[in-house]
Amino acid sequence: MKKGITAVFIILVIVLGYVAVHALTAPVKLSAAQLGNQLIHSNKKGIDCFACHTIGKKGGSVGPDLSKEGLAKHSIKWLEVQIATPAKNFKPGSTLKIDGKSYMAIMPDHKMLSKKELYELASYLESLK
Ligand code: HEC
Repeated sequence: MKKGITAVFIILVIVLGYVAVHALTAPVKLSAAQLGNQLIHSNKKGIDCFACHTIGKKGGSVGPDLSKEGLAKHSIKWLEVQIATPAKNFKPGSTLKIDGKSYMAIMPDHKMLSKKELYELASYLESLK
């Protein structure tokens, strides 16, 4: 009888140990917005956004502040187009006004970025509220 209980106990420890190790080592799946967050803060080729844009406390002011870009309610598609080929959204050289500030439309193309990267960046910007 005692042996039986010991055996059950050992099996229980093994099963729980397996579950715990599995839970700890399982890869965490990041959302597109989280991946975009990592990407925009990386040094990857073509990721030059902070040269002109501020997000939070970091960045330039040649382009509009993107800290609350999600509130502008642009679609993911619009944001993807803006990043890859901004001339499709704003006539190059024209002046636009955002939050009372004027900007000249001079954002460069980012055609080197993959579809996946554009989607991740757009999802990240859309999440900023
Ligand atoms: C050389 C400066 C420059 C760089 C680099 C740049 N932008 Fe821009 N961005 C601008 C300017 C100027 C505008 C205003 C519209 C335009 O030029 O098309 C703008 C507009 C935008 C807008 C539209 C904001 C709105 O709601 O109207 C988004 C989104 C944006 N940029 C994202 C990005 C991302 C993401 C990157 C990096 C992959 C980037 N920009 C790199 C200058 C820049």
